[in-house]
Amino acid sequence: MGVVRLGLNFRAGNCVYRRMRREIATTGWVWGSALALASLLFVACGGGSSGGHPVAAPTSSSPTTVVEDAKLSAADFRNINAMTRVADHFVGNARGHLAAALAVAHSARGGRYPVGTIIQLVPQEAMVKRAPGFSPTTNDWEFFSLDVSAQGTRILSRGGAKVLNRFGGSCASCHSAAASQFDLVCGTNHGCAPLPIGPDVIAALQKSDPRPRH
Ligand code: HEC
Repeated sequence: MGVVRLGLNFRAGNCVYRRMRREIATTGWVWGSALALASLLFVACGGGSSGGHPVAAPTSSSPTTVVEDAKLSAADFRNINAMTRVADHFVGNARGHLAAALAVAHSARGGRYPVGTIIQLVPQEAMVKRAPGFSPTTNDWEFFSLDVSAQGTRILSRGGAKVLNRFGGSCASCHSAAASQFDLVCGTNHGCAPLPIGPDVIAALQKSDPRPRH
């Protein structure tokens, strides 16, 4: 069932994509087409309802132990081009662990990303590493669907396995296909079904991030 739906949706995505390519060829790049292209990236591969995910209370043997977490707000997201590029996506860390996050990102053997890691392929979607126990089924990643403008970032939805992107695609259902050592990061060769858009469209979406670079 899941496989069949995925195939159908990818075909639908490819069809729209071809139409968009024609429009790009005739009209050139404008904001509107960049936003329309954004919609192509988010083909559905699952159903369900969206909704937040409660943070599990960290268990601790000592009352003085502080478990580091990263419950980000909209203002914590910035122009993706101000983050560190790794292959075709961008990596940051909101808790000072950028070096550790980049070490995992650059490792051919993968690894588990540190708390506070922010990864984005496009401005409208992000995954953020939360404290252990936040969402075991998503390796404690919190998925975000974002709205971005020159004024900044707005969070449309956030949470664990139930989060959908704005086009009905389940973040977790696609990203769970990544080989386990890569901590749900798909990349181009970790075992996820490929997106129905090419590197040229991804690059255009990345460049179109309207938020100030600071
Ligand atoms: C149709 C399947 C699918 C859906 C739905 C989907 N993604 Fe992805 N995502 C991918 C694939 C495949 C890549 C790798 C693309 C590439 O590198 O060319 C990717 C890349 C990413 C990346 C860059 C890191 C990586 O894994 O390569 C982030 C971050 C990301 N997606 C977040 C999200 C979030 C958040 C959602 C939901 C709001 C979401 N994605 C929905 C398939 C999907």
